[in-house]
Amino acid sequence: MIMASGLVIGLVGGTGHLGPGLAVRWAARGYKVLIGSRKREKAERIARYVQGLLSSHGLSVEIGYGENREIIAKSDVVVLTVPYTALTGLIPLLASTIKEESIVITPVVPFLIKNRDIRLVRVAEGSVAEMLTKHLPQARIVSALHTVPYKLLLDFPKPIEGDVLVLGDDLEAVSDVMKLIREIHNLRPIYGGGLEFSVAVESLTPILINIGRRTGKPNVSIKLTGI
Ligand SMILES: NC(=O)c1ccc[n+]([C@@H]2O[C@H](COP(=O)([O-])OP(=O)(O)OC[C@H]3O[C@@H](n4cnc5c(N)ncnc54)[C@H](OP(=O)(O)O)[C@@H]3O)[C@@H](O)[C@H]2O)c1
Repeated sequence: MIMASGLVIGLVGGTGHLGPGLAVRWAARGYKVLIGSRKREKAERIARYVQGLLSSHGLSVEIGYGENREIIAKSDVVVLTVPYTALTGLIPLLASTIKEESIVITPVVPFLIKNRDIRLVRVAEGSVAEMLTKHLPQARIVSALHTVPYKLLLDFPKPIEGDVLVLGDDLEAVSDVMKLIREIHNLRPIYGGGLEFSVAVESLTPILINIGRRTGKPNVSIKLTGI
């Protein structure tokens, strides 16, 4: 079971949209957060931005940073906050750098935008999560956070309404990830089964994006009833 004190969470490509949002939420709860990037200076800039956001709410927290390789090697939980297209290049780096038994959280949605059209990508292994399992046997893959809009995370410390479907084959890793999700004020993690079902949640996000575009409400998320 993970504990806030001492646990290191590394955000690969944590310099984009989702990374800073997760960094703010977890750092505020006492986790040691590292921002990763292909460029050290960019990681440093975003780490300072996140620190500034926390400090504007009276929290003095240090955010670490480094190139992706450095932060992967130091992390107990690695979150892949990168676009699907980045994975081809990142998988060899992860395979050679990641600590044995690390948890890898994938929120990665396999889609491409072409002339504003959203196109689902069919992953040969079935889903991004299953592809990662094949290439990173030393890690424990958990699929989660696909439907949490980054703008809501950055709107710290506002609670976030919504459920988060969590999928994984290693139940201890799933339980640890569910604990991390519960640390984000009001989010409710719900276990949905093994990684074979990840394709469903990975395909859901493009539908939410379509709905957001059509309705002019970009922060569409999901909420289950009856449980
Ligand atoms: N945005 C959301 O609200 C949201 C919500 C749920 C799930 N997701 C999923 O979470 C993932 C991250 O989303 P995002 O919106 O944060 O992505 P993003 O802002 O487009 O990109 C995040 C970071 O990925 C790195 N990156 C881009 N291309 C790369 C490449 N070819 N190789 C290595 N690194 C690369 C960049 O970091 P450096 O340039 O610093 O290396 C970039 O800052 C995506 O898979 C997305 O589908 C997003």
